[in-house]
Order: sequence, then structure tokens, then C-alpha cells
Amino acid sequence: MLGSNLQTKPSTSRSTARMSPKVSSRKQTNFESPVANKYLSGLNSGILTTVGNTPLIKLAKVFKDVDFQIFAKLEMFNPGGSVKDRPAVNMLKNAFADGQIEPGYTIVESSSGNLGIGLAQACLVLGLHLICVVDPKTTSQNIKILEAYGATVDVVTEPDPATGDFLPARINRVKSLLDSIPKSFWCQQYANMNNVRAHHQTMHEIATALDGKLDYLFCSTGTCGTLRGCSEYIKSHNLTTKIIAVDAKGSVIFGDKRGKRLIPGHGAARVPELFQPGLEDMCVHVSDWDCIVGCHHLLKSEAILAGGSSGAVIAAIAKKRFEIPSGANCAAILCDRGERYLDTIYTDSWVKEHFGNAQLHALN
Ligand SMILES: Cc1ncc(COP(=O)(O)O)c(C=O)c1O
Repeated sequence: MLGSNLQTKPSTSRSTARMSPKVSSRKQTNFESPVANKYLSGLNSGILTTVGNTPLIKLAKVFKDVDFQIFAKLEMFNPGGSVKDRPAVNMLKNAFADGQIEPGYTIVESSSGNLGIGLAQACLVLGLHLICVVDPKTTSQNIKILEAYGATVDVVTEPDPATGDFLPARINRVKSLLDSIPKSFWCQQYANMNNVRAHHQTMHEIATALDGKLDYLFCSTGTCGTLRGCSEYIKSHNLTTKIIAVDAKGSVIFGDKRGKRLIPGHGAARVPELFQPGLEDMCVHVSDWDCIVGCHHLLKSEAILAGGSSGAVIAAIAKKRFEIPSGANCAAILCDRGERYLDTIYTDSWVKEHFGNAQLHALN
């Protein structure tokens, strides 16, 4: 029973969990050479040092009349604007440490959004060339951001003929670019364990800020990097936190029937390699409309202009609020800023076009 997971006692009655002072990194090998150190100095100074250590704030107004606490991890404070800055830096850093990339390499990745932007920023710092493979659904704003950071944007115009999906077509394009560019590297965010490891740190920051006293973590899912990283940290540090995975209706990660989704960020059209059964204690599926309501409610109640998946976690907490015990501590990871959704979630004509006039009025 999903609900039964929410019957545990709140953390105030528990002892503080063990916490390591710092999350250990997997390998250090190639960082010892002077060339590597010079090249990687961008990771230890300048803008990339501001990735992570994002604020955790208490949300006091988002739900009135609840007797549990909600804390928000504000990943929009990362310099590229999202939680994906963390895996972007960590995947490149470790690819370099493992000798998979070196100066002069071209990084190729399929991403229409936040990971691409995080990679573009890190590649600019590190002097690497990024080719970001996108499809026609990518917003013009994201394309402009990618190009501003110096990335080459490669637009796949035709979906995969077999499935009608753009994702396989984008992956095929990535593969053909890798074949044709001699020194090229694909991060493979859906399968890369350095995506997961980046989020040991995310969870470490949340757990440390709350002194280990966290009962529920609400975490949206796409590649499952955040979910798995937080889950691994919780297990390895014997925390009693339950994880609520928040997925989009129509996303197949947790076995829902594949369906059309309008809001980018969370959800996936295929099960990521990083997914494993049991990472979550329960999963809540959230519709596009629930996300929009969640985003507007977060904005009006807390003055936080956040992206679609942040609305999704707020909607998931709303769905589960009557099952959360009194005194419990909950944390929600708010993955990105709302500016990239101004033309959609925060534009009345877009909401009306996709959901109708009555829904638009209900929102206002
Ligand atoms: C806004 C937003 N929310 C949620 C996610 C899902 O995070 P993850 O890929 O770690 O599962 C992403 C991933 O790109 C995202 O951009």
C-alpha cells in the first residue's frame, strides 16, 4: 500500500542520522598531471564553484492549515538555472579524470533543456565544444541560451519513422555525430552514474541542513539521476527518509501508459538505464494541469517563480497532504526557474489554448 509508507512517526522523535562531513568522489587519478590541473582550474575557481550548495528554505504559506513542515531546495540558484548544472559538471569532471575526454574534445548530448544549458556553461569554462542535439519542440529561448554559451545547436527535424518519437531520432543523430567527429564524447545522461553521484551531494546538503531529520523527500524524475542519487545517499547513511518520486502522467518510468506531455523537465518516453525498482517508496503521477496549478500556487503563495516540475512536486504534496503525519519534515526539490516557462505555464493565452477558458479562469 502506498499510503502505508506515510504512517511513520515524524523525525522529531528520532535520533540524528549519521552524516559524513563530505561526499567522497570516486576517482582522482588524472587530476594529478599539471596539464590536467591547468585545464581543470575552471572547476575550482569562477562560476562553476557556484554550482550546488543551493538554499533550503521553509515554505510557510504554500499550504495553510497543515501541521507538517515543508522545505524547498532551490535548485534554480545554480548558475545555469537548474538542478542539471550538478550532473553536467560532474559528468565532465569524471570523464576527464577517467581519460575519456581531453582538451580539444567535442561533447555531444541530446538535451532540449536544462542539461544542455548546464553542459554549455561548463564546456565554455573548460574550453570544450558542445553540440547539443535538440528537436523542433525545443523552445527558441533555450536555443538562444545554448547559443549564447557558445554551443552548436543541431536540430533534428524528423521523428523516428518507427515510433513517431523525436527521442530515438535525436539519439541516432548523436551516434552519427560521434562517428563523424574523431575526438568526441557523449555524456549519456540517462545511463551515466556520474549523473547519479552528483546528487549524493544534493541529498547531503538537504540532510545536513535538517540535521538528518527528514521524513519525506519529494523528487521529480526524468533521467532518475536525482532520484537515484538521493536514494543511494539515504540508504548509505541509514536515514529513515521516504522518497516520493513525482512523475508526469504519460511518462513510462513507473509503468504509466505512454501519453502526450506538454511540460518539459520531468517524465520520460523510455525507462532510463539509471532507473532501478525500489529507488522510491512511492510514486505520484501528476498531470500537466496539476503542474500548472502547482506553479501558480507556489508563485502566489511564496513569490517563487519556478518551472514545471516544481509545480509537479507542489501538486504531489497537495495530493498526499492528508497522509503526512503531524510534525513531519518534508523537503521538495524545486528543479529550475520559471523564466523558461514564461511563454507557456505563465501565459494566459497558452493555458487557454491547451486547457480551455474555464480552466484559465479557475487558475486566476
Ligand atoms: C526541470 C527539471 N525537472 C526535473 C528533471 C528530472 O531530473 P532527473 O533527470 O535527475 O531525473 C529535469 C531533468 O532534466 C529537469 O530539467
